[in-house]
Amino acid sequence: MKTDRSDILTCLRSSGDYVSGQQLCERLGVSRTAVWKVINQLKEEGYRIESVPSRGYRLVESPADVYSESEIASRLHTKWAGKKLYFFESTGSTNPDAKRFAEEGAPHGATVVADRQTAGRGRRGRSWESPAGCSVYFTIVIRPAFAPDKASMITLVMALSVAEAIHEVTGLDTGIKWPNDIVVNGKKVVGILTEMSMTPEMNEIQFLVAGVGVNVNQNGPADFPEELRRTATSLKMECGKTVDRAVLLERILARFEADYETFERSFCLSGLKQRYESRLIGRDAAVRVLDPAGEYTGISRGITDTGELVVEREDGERTLVYAGEVSVRGLYGYV
Ligand code: BTN
Repeated sequence: MKTDRSDILTCLRSSGDYVSGQQLCERLGVSRTAVWKVINQLKEEGYRIESVPSRGYRLVESPADVYSESEIASRLHTKWAGKKLYFFESTGSTNPDAKRFAEEGAPHGATVVADRQTAGRGRRGRSWESPAGCSVYFTIVIRPAFAPDKASMITLVMALSVAEAIHEVTGLDTGIKWPNDIVVNGKKVVGILTEMSMTPEMNEIQFLVAGVGVNVNQNGPADFPEELRRTATSLKMECGKTVDRAVLLERILARFEADYETFERSFCLSGLKQRYESRLIGRDAAVRVLDPAGEYTGISRGITDTGELVVEREDGERTLVYAGEVSVRGLYGYV
């Protein structure tokens, strides 16, 4: 039944005009009654669908911020990103879900989306607050044809895709805090957690999962846990409007598919670097590198083709900072 819904919505949405009941039946291989039932269900959920006896059905308007498998699937026009979609109203965390599906054979691009996570994970063993109805939480499975030492670049590719998708949908000026936090007006709106699974011989990547959490429609600081209020914000808080999560997710997946394909041509960031650097926060400004081996300050000079941050020390020497356990801060505050 679910597939029929997605397929009918997809047909109506992509046509933009009337589609006859007969056409829908033929395209989807279902009965007239099945089509009629789904149309009625969709109407009950708030979709405005016009039915004209001699012409068929036309999707006039979708309800605001419907976040469901059908709504997301019917918007996607990608070749592989999100083509296989798993949607949960609630799950522990989409990252382990994606790993499980990948182990069971899910294809490159398979995507797990949840409206809520009960055990959302952040980097460095932190948790990621994941209430229902206000955020985008998803994890995409990547089956790469590259060596493990290239894997960390995927997080930068994803950061770029998400930063640009948010800009496209909301008009907000998104910055990237190297390597992969996305920041609006000095506060974090997106976190990305990439994890890798190796083959038993430990020499090749079996698959990667890239998990993305976007704070979308939180209304104000009170919607965040106390300890995050100073450093976190949402798209709605910054642009003043409710943002449609299905629209945003579609844009992210479409952009990630294109950006990943650019990356795959060279297995480095050369084709994306300019766009990444144009959003890099603190470029040519002073940064403090919190290296466990010893903190130091310098001037951030952009990234290399392989994603390291270039920091110019006081003596003019350029140091490459590798993502991982190292954090970089501006000299004042979070960014
Ligand atoms: C960070 O600490 O900045 C990374 C946060 C990553 C959160 C996302 S939400 C979707 C996916 N599932 C998780 O449990 N974590 C990632």
